[in-house]
Amino acid sequence: MKFFIDTADVNEIREAASWGLVDGVTTNPSLIAKTGRPYAEVLREICDIVDGPISAEVVATEAAAMLEEGEKLAKIHRNIVVKCPLIIEGLKATRAFAKRGIRVNVTLIFTPLQALAAAKCGASYLSPFIGRLDDIGQDGFQIVEQMIQILSNYDYPAEVLVASVRNLTHLMRAAEIGADVATVPFAVLKQILHHPLTDMGLERFLADWRKTNQKI
Ligand code: G3P
Repeated sequence: MKFFIDTADVNEIREAASWGLVDGVTTNPSLIAKTGRPYAEVLREICDIVDGPISAEVVATEAAAMLEEGEKLAKIHRNIVVKCPLIIEGLKATRAFAKRGIRVNVTLIFTPLQALAAAKCGASYLSPFIGRLDDIGQDGFQIVEQMIQILSNYDYPAEVLVASVRNLTHLMRAAEIGADVATVPFAVLKQILHHPLTDMGLERFLADWRKTNQKI
């Protein structure tokens, strides 16, 4: 499973990339707003750090305007993937981007049929927001399973990108189900690497080694 980092904070991206865990980046208007920085500048910086798909979301809600914004975003770097919301206008734009060879991540997916519609329109990535479904008491992973099944029935090339990941349980389930990608906040990505028994085990090894008075 590929790990994308779900942030627009370049310091977080730089650090996580140095661990070798980052295959791509997803941003959205809320994450960009948090940085307080100009969008294009942040995207350029991210593209310098990570050589992988970098999702950049349009904010227009009419297909023509989405196309204009997406074209501008795609020109920033060859790795930019334009992110469009799952609304009718977003799907029109997705189809047009796909024809122009611009990859699209269709976001705000909450049902398998929305995902199928986006796949039919040529989306490269389908982003179900599983954490937000959990927030309203639904099992977000049920739709991920259904999406994977549907995509395999029909051989759509779209990849399932599990989004709105809030914790390690979400990440585990994404991997168990066989999602292509999970986009993960920095804090969750960091948690993968920590376990108290790993830290205690290492301390014990080092303490024992010191007793030998040897050097390697
Ligand atoms: O990138 C979009 C998605 O991951 C948002 O997550 O936590 O705001 O639901 P969240």
